[in-house]
Amino acid sequence: MERDALGEIRRYLLARRGVGGEVAYRMADAARPAEESRKSAREIVMITSPALRSEGAAVGQASLFGEPSRRRGIDLSGFDLAALDAVVSKCERCGLSGGRTRTVFGSGNPSSKIVFVGEAPGREEDLQGLPFVGRAGQLLTKMLAAIGFAREDVYIANILKCRPPGNREPQEDEMAACEPYLARQLELIRPVMICALGRIAAHGLLKKTTALGILRQGMHYYNEIPVAVTYHPAALLRNPNLKRDAWEDLKTMRKLYDETAREGE
Ligand code: URA
Repeated sequence: MERDALGEIRRYLLARRGVGGEVAYRMADAARPAEESRKSAREIVMITSPALRSEGAAVGQASLFGEPSRRRGIDLSGFDLAALDAVVSKCERCGLSGGRTRTVFGSGNPSSKIVFVGEAPGREEDLQGLPFVGRAGQLLTKMLAAIGFAREDVYIANILKCRPPGNREPQEDEMAACEPYLARQLELIRPVMICALGRIAAHGLLKKTTALGILRQGMHYYNEIPVAVTYHPAALLRNPNLKRDAWEDLKTMRKLYDETAREGE
C-alpha cells in the first residue's frame, strides 16, 4: 500500500503544536499531483516553523556526503544483512579501518519497523562489535523503554561502522565511504520510520547542515521514509537540561510511529 506522505506530515505537524500545523494542513491538502504535493508539503514544514523562519538562510541543503552507492563504485544490491555484515567487517574504504578493533554493523530486530541511527562506535562498541553498549547506550535503552520499545525489538545502527580515534567527530570522507552500508541496511530492513540520534546522524541521513535544534522541529524524509530527529543520548548525559525536550521528541515520535505502522498493515 502506498504511504500517505502528506497524511504523515499533517499528523506530525498537528501533533507538534506551534509548528504551523493548521496552515500546513490546508496548504498541503490542495489538489496537486502527489509528488508535487509532497514536495510543497515539505517546504511548508520549513516555512511554517517559527524557529525555521528566524533561522532563515541557515536552512540549507548540502551535497557533503557523496553520491548513492552505485555511483560510488560499490554495488551492494545483491547482499543480505549477513553478507553485508561480512563485507563491512573487512572494509578498508577509509582510514578508520586501521584503528578499529571490530566493526559495528548494527543490532536488533531486522524485521523492526523502526530503526534508530547513531553517529559512530565509541570505545565499548569498538571492543564488543555492538552499537550503543556504553554509557550512552544504557541511556538509549532507557529512552526506548520509556516509549515502550524493548531494545531487542528495534534495529540500531550508526552512520559509521568503525570508531573514530578518541571518539572525534566523523569526517566527511569517512561518512561518504560508509554511506552505502547504512543505505543497504535500510533498503533491506524497510522501516516505516527512522529516528536520527543527534546532529551527525541527522546530517548524514538527510544531507543537510541545518542545526539540530531546527531539525528536531520538522518532519524529514530519507528515501520516502519519515525521519524524526532528536538529541543523541551522549548529549543528554553531558547536558541533562535537554532531557525534557528529548522526552517530548520521543513521545511525538512514538505517536507518529504507531499511526504510520498501523497504516502500513
Ligand atoms: N554513540 C553512537 O553514536 N553510537 C554508538 O554505537 C555508541 C555511541
